[in-house]
Amino acid sequence: MTTPFTVAIDGPAAAGKGTISKAVAAHFGFAHLDTGLLYRAVGARMLTGEDPIAAAQNLSAEDLDNADLRTAEIAQAASKVAVIPEVRAALLDFQRAFARRAGGAVLDGRDIGTVICPQAEVKLFVTASADIRAQRRFAELQERGADTDFDTVLADVKARDTRDSTRADAPLRAAEDAVQLDTTTLSIDAAVQAAILAVKDRL
Ligand code: DC
Repeated sequence: MTTPFTVAIDGPAAAGKGTISKAVAAHFGFAHLDTGLLYRAVGARMLTGEDPIAAAQNLSAEDLDNADLRTAEIAQAASKVAVIPEVRAALLDFQRAFARRAGGAVLDGRDIGTVICPQAEVKLFVTASADIRAQRRFAELQERGADTDFDTVLADVKARDTRDSTRADAPLRAAEDAVQLDTTTLSIDAAVQAAILAVKDRL
């Protein structure tokens, strides 16, 4: 495919967006951008004392190439810098250009279908109960050897949900024309298949 084709995948933390996005991108040969990593990279630089707006304005590829971006501390920092309109504005053009590159693109985040790419050819909104999402995130953190407990992870997930969905600028919400995928009751495999079908319908 040489024309642009955008798949926007939004939803709260640990709902399965990342897995679904990677699988959809691999299936169709599209490029994939995890937009949460941009906010995490800004959050990481804020934690070293930098002004988050300046960090967002001069983010580089090296900032994204950092295994520590997946920690719980940086997740919270990302959610905090994400409420700053100037941070969001600084990251907008990069995301839009990525979305309209030739050959198709999958972007996952919180505001892709509503703000970054309201004209996306396909929009998915992936959800799951807070409990299930915390269980998944806890298992993931344990696998990486993080020293944490389930209640802390659940509280973190809920704190991020509240901050991400109540902020004034680009809050987390489903676009009206988004296909809803609730992965509380759906296996990840079934969710991936549903996402692939939604894309096929529009190709
Ligand atoms: O998807 P994630 O957990 O890596 O995202 C980290 C934080 O970044 C999330 O809590 C809110 C913010 N974010 C955002 O505001 N908009 C996006 N498109 C992606 C992430």
